[in-house]
Amino acid sequence: MTEVTYEGLTFVPYITRKEIEARVAELGRQIVADSKGTTPLFICVLNGAFPFASDLFRAVEEIDAEITFVRLKSYEGTGSTGKVKELVGLSEDIKGRTVIVVEDIIDTGKTMHRLVEDLRSKEPADVKIATLLFKPDALVCPVKPDYVGFNIPTKFIIGYGLDLNGLARNLNDIYILKEE
Ligand code: IMP
Ligand code: MG
Repeated sequence: MTEVTYEGLTFVPYITRKEIEARVAELGRQIVADSKGTTPLFICVLNGAFPFASDLFRAVEEIDAEITFVRLKSYEGTGSTGKVKELVGLSEDIKGRTVIVVEDIIDTGKTMHRLVEDLRSKEPADVKIATLLFKPDALVCPVKPDYVGFNIPTKFIIGYGLDLNGLARNLNDIYILKEE
């Protein structure tokens, strides 16, 4: 793993594919243990969460589970716009069901807050949040993730689904913006 450059910004290796794999396996075990007797519906938040959701969903093969997708957008470049746009909504009826929202990262928490409010209005039995990455110091909304892969500082990162203006999602490892 070496440095990578996108749009003139340099990123250095931060979390390896191996570390991600190990952590996702642990989260999968926790979800399996917590989900006995329910058939949770995983809701993957596109675009960023698709690699994480794909790995996490396959880490819970001991339980019956379903997966679906919503598409939201709040970031432009390396910063949150503060406004959350819904590009594709939920088509399933979630009344009485346990849902597990799967996100790549919680930063200000605005995206997750808005989504969870929306989901709660549809009367699910329970809404849980799984996020691969969490920036606790950037949080401005009352959001409490149930499953967190890694707590990270308030810095911009890319890879494993996380992008800079659409690029870098296909990197297998996670990289952090280099301090100059
Ligand atoms: P929030 O609404 O501020 O919590 O932002 C959540 C969304 O912003 C995530 O789903 C990501 O798509 C994006 N995001 C937040 N931090 C980063 C980052 O460090 N790199 C890439 N995307 C990020
Ligand atoms: Mg996202």
